[in-house]
Amino acid sequence: MTQPTIALTGGSGFIGGQIARMLVASGARVRALSRTRSGLDNGILWVKGSLEDKESLAELVAGARVVIHCAGAVRGRNARSFRRTNVDGSRRVAEAARASGTCERILHMSSLAARHPELSWYAQSKYDAEQEVIRAAGPIGVSIFRPTAVYGPGDREMRPLFQWLLKGVQIRLGASDSHLSFVHVFDLVAAVSHWLDSPLSKPAIYEISDGTLGGYSWKGLASIAGDIRRAPVRSLPISTPLLRAIAGVNLAIACLLRGDPMLTTSKVNELTHADWTCSNTAITAATGWNPQIKLRRALQERLF
Ligand SMILES: NC(=O)c1ccc[n+]([C@@H]2O[C@H](COP(=O)([O-])OP(=O)(O)OC[C@H]3O[C@@H](n4cnc5c(N)ncnc54)[C@H](OP(=O)(O)O)[C@@H]3O)[C@@H](O)[C@H]2O)c1
Repeated sequence: MTQPTIALTGGSGFIGGQIARMLVASGARVRALSRTRSGLDNGILWVKGSLEDKESLAELVAGARVVIHCAGAVRGRNARSFRRTNVDGSRRVAEAARASGTCERILHMSSLAARHPELSWYAQSKYDAEQEVIRAAGPIGVSIFRPTAVYGPGDREMRPLFQWLLKGVQIRLGASDSHLSFVHVFDLVAAVSHWLDSPLSKPAIYEISDGTLGGYSWKGLASIAGDIRRAPVRSLPISTPLLRAIAGVNLAIACLLRGDPMLTTSKVNELTHADWTCSNTAITAATGWNPQIKLRRALQERLF
């Protein structure tokens, strides 16, 4: 029997790339959107186009029963640029899925940041995108994943921090008593796979982390790294005013060069937020998924 087509956005990125690999390995027919690739490659049929281009989105979702929307902007120099990609782009994907007449379910990759839209341009855009997708999808069942910070092979953001940690230096942002959470990309991809295999329940928002109760404190992270390297870890606190100053300079340079920076004055509020812990209760109840990789193991086995 021919497998149904799954349409994927963001397949050239860190998380979407791992999702694409899992889909191909599962035997699914994968059609993926890319701004640079086209044609068949490693089992993926690439549709050249962007979130701004309605025609390529129509081609992407034609005949697909499932749409996984994982494209998004994680860097940007103002609220407008995040909105353009994350909100307007997500709305167009949902509209195309609805217009296709074949799509039964959409998985929208949001972020735990959407829990606090007031914190940053990015967080606001991820929250607004969720609302737009639900509205534009109409009768199609929408599931929203809100993963916390994702790390693993292919990630460029968390990797340097973990590398420094294992060298004995902890770069600490925000208050010393903050609580963070993480999820390995392999676990996130397994959650997508479980979602695909589960009957669609009512539209829902699922927070996703590695399941460590209460998350990780800075002290806890240093202690894990200390155990692994069998040597102390020195904490290098960067005060919020200093981080804001660095972010201001970074943003100014990015504006001059027309680049898309990660660290901006807006991002600082997100980075220094005191509580990024979350619960997997809803996703586990809906799909049976449970994370397998805790940060200790990932650091020990260098799974990043
Ligand atoms: N990484 C994390 O820790 C994390 C945590 C929570 C949620 N998320 C969410 O997960 C999603 C993927 O993040 P990621 O870390 O994998 O980011 P990434 O590596 O930067 O990948 C982003 C993907 O989106 C695509 N994209 C961006 N703008 C596009 C446009 N206008 N048209 C078409 N494609 C576009 C990129 O395509 P190109 O290759 O053409 O640039 C790329 O495939 C995002 O929605 C992000 O908000 C990420």
